[in-house]
Amino acid sequence: MSDVMQAARYLAYGGPDMVVIEQRPIPAPKQGEVLVQVRAAPVTAGDVRLRSGNVPRGMGLLLRAVIGWRRPRVLPGWGFAGQVVGLGAGATQLAIGQRVFGIKGFAGAAHAEYLTIKADGAILPTPDSLTDAEAAAFFFGGLTAAEFLIDKAQLQAGQRVLIAGATGAVGSAAVQIAAHLGAEVTALAAPRNHDLARRLGAVAVQDYAASPPNGPFDVIVDVMGTYPWARARPLLAQGGGLCMITADLPASLAAALRPRKEGRRRMAGTSSESRAKMQRLIALHQAGAYRPLVGQTLPFDQLPRAHGMAQTFHKVGNLIVQMRAP
Ligand SMILES: NC(=O)c1ccc[n+]([C@@H]2O[C@H](COP(=O)([O-])OP(=O)(O)OC[C@H]3O[C@@H](n4cnc5c(N)ncnc54)[C@H](OP(=O)(O)O)[C@@H]3O)[C@@H](O)[C@H]2O)c1
Repeated sequence: MSDVMQAARYLAYGGPDMVVIEQRPIPAPKQGEVLVQVRAAPVTAGDVRLRSGNVPRGMGLLLRAVIGWRRPRVLPGWGFAGQVVGLGAGATQLAIGQRVFGIKGFAGAAHAEYLTIKADGAILPTPDSLTDAEAAAFFFGGLTAAEFLIDKAQLQAGQRVLIAGATGAVGSAAVQIAAHLGAEVTALAAPRNHDLARRLGAVAVQDYAASPPNGPFDVIVDVMGTYPWARARPLLAQGGGLCMITADLPASLAAALRPRKEGRRRMAGTSSESRAKMQRLIALHQAGAYRPLVGQTLPFDQLPRAHGMAQTFHKVGNLIVQMRAP
């Protein structure tokens, strides 16, 4: 095995050309870590936001305080799927050759041919039912959808759900999980995605650019922040809840400080990336509730192009970059 790899780096906040691929040493797994050869990785909305610094209103200062004022001081790549090729001392939870998938999170480094991660961290064996591309696509939208629908909104069978932005990474997972839980799903999507939204489990589909849907809904999942409270409120049934997947600072503060308003609930925040939540999502997959939607796949060396596609926020499902076969 060579001791160098292709790995991505951010040059500065900015456009897709601010992500570059360079040669770096293959990292050595430390105590308790495994070395993973990455086969596929998603290019997520989160990756786009870190690279561009383009975040919902009011969140920019917060982002830069955490990851860097002048440039993102994190490495690219939130999630991965691959194979264990090295074990640090004491890393007994996984074995060489095992297919694995997981989350590096916003500290990143998954957009690389190899990565290291704690063997008892956010990494699990990949079920045989998933391809590498599906495994790479698995967690980003799925964890978010499950957290908002199950933990925050506590969705029940028979409830009416509106999912605004139904066929991207988060929306495609939300439609599937909500339908599996027995909810009646209305999807908002661009016309070219209407058939897909129905296949994912929506019973009614509308163009988000047309007139607003007829409520009432028990839960509204606002994927892109296009249903702020004033617009969502008239569509929400008494006792209903608004899941703000994308929320600006004022909306996030309002949800935190006054979650209940006018007999309805407002929910925002980020989703947990714990092993327990990862395992729950795998259980949902195994129960037939969720299969990650892979849209386009590109070779890893086209990562800047993938960033350009992802930053439109109109991609279908998950956009995956695939590393060269070993
Ligand atoms: N809170 C959290 O923990 C969390 C976690 C993950 C993501 N997010 C945020 O969630 C958002 C979506 O992420 P994603 O990965 O699903 O993105 P994505 O894969 O790019 O999908 C974006 C979706 O939004 C739809 N959309 C675009 N413009 C719209 C509009 N004007 N009205 C309604 N729908 C519209 C698109 O529909 P068409 O393709 O049909 O146009 C597409 O379905 C991002 O802002 C991301 O930062 C938050």
